[in-house]
Amino acid sequence: ERVDLDGEWLLPGFVDGHIHLREPGYVEKEGIESGTAAAVAGGVTTIVEMPNTVPPVLDVDRLRSKADRFDRDSHVDHAFFGAITEENVGTGDIRALADAGVTAFKTFMATSFGPLLMDDKGVLYRAFEEVADAGLPLYIHAEDEEYLDEFRARCADDGGMDAFFDSRPPIAETTAVSDVLDVVAETGTETVIAHVTTAEALARIRDARADGLPVHAEVTPYHLTFDRDDVASIGTHAIGTPPARDAENFERLWDHLESGDVQLLGSDHAPHQLEERDRPPLEVPPGMPQLETAVPAMLDAIDRGRLTVSQLVDLYAQRPARLHGLYPRKGAIRPGADADLVVVDPDREWTVDATRFESAADYSPFDGLRLTGMPTAVYQRGALVAEEMATLNEPGDGRRIS
Ligand code: NCD
Ligand code: ZN
Ligand code: ZN
Repeated sequence: ERVDLDGEWLLPGFVDGHIHLREPGYVEKEGIESGTAAAVAGGVTTIVEMPNTVPPVLDVDRLRSKADRFDRDSHVDHAFFGAITEENVGTGDIRALADAGVTAFKTFMATSFGPLLMDDKGVLYRAFEEVADAGLPLYIHAEDEEYLDEFRARCADDGGMDAFFDSRPPIAETTAVSDVLDVVAETGTETVIAHVTTAEALARIRDARADGLPVHAEVTPYHLTFDRDDVASIGTHAIGTPPARDAENFERLWDHLESGDVQLLGSDHAPHQLEERDRPPLEVPPGMPQLETAVPAMLDAIDRGRLTVSQLVDLYAQRPARLHGLYPRKGAIRPGADADLVVVDPDREWTVDATRFESAADYSPFDGLRLTGMPTAVYQRGALVAEEMATLNEPGDGRRIS
């Protein structure tokens, strides 16, 4: 078949190394079927799914049962994270999960959404050592739980949006990131600081990399689109953790991105139900669907001259693929090999309408935003799987990669 692109761009299928679906546990928020349909609609042809489902992926049995569900229902090619908490450190489960094919691990230093919390620094240290032994990267949600406890208590009586921001101050992130960098220096564990939001943390990560530490900074398209004032004016639909910071920090995030201090983009797709979002800010489960707005938001940034297309491909395809060990081996890229490709119309102007998402979550901070740039055709292993942001393939067409 011959396709005339006529001014459109042909890019690699995007690789999202940080997404949350809710099956098992909270299928009403997002099942595998709807969440993976959202991926291909948004131009993402490979996802790595986070382990904070219920029950969490703490051992090989849970990994297998989740992988079986994906075999049946996934629209998109996929790989999995293993979870780390105090429960499975020292049990042999981490090594077993690595042997069973997870491509990375995730641990939470602070409460976010889900049952996973690792706030014991001694156990955390042992976790880093075990992950290093297993030879896989560790993603970490780096906010300091002690700070969060203290600040949460202070603003518990304030019901407004400020309470949410004040309950998770920047210092909770910068402190946790410094602690993590110390542990990385000692253990040598390849580490991704997930969803970095502060310019200060990015600067510390940059310096650590310059010293040779195997640490990477991941930033989300959400934090590159909205600052604190935007989130405050959109309201609870826009609440995610860690929070968006002030306008000055927002500009510095972009400066760091432009200087090459960010290694990975990850959408942090983290859907909840609409009715859960219309609660007082401190009671809203944090996170939003992002798979159908991540590529468009970044195309819009390219249109505004803030990002280049090769940076986008590097941050949201090549590097996540390499980090998760999914990059094709030498010699595998040859004429006739199957290919994940996205056709992008860089000039298409459109308005985000969350009620039209393939995702089960019908809210988005991007709702109503006018964007320039759309993934118009998506090919997974050579087959057309989405067009004009509507998914065409069948549940079960996605394959597991490890
Ligand atoms: C994520 C979720 O809901 O699973 N929420 C979020 O606000 N980012 C968890 C996480 O990545 O911290
Ligand atoms: Zn997180
Ligand atoms: Zn996340």
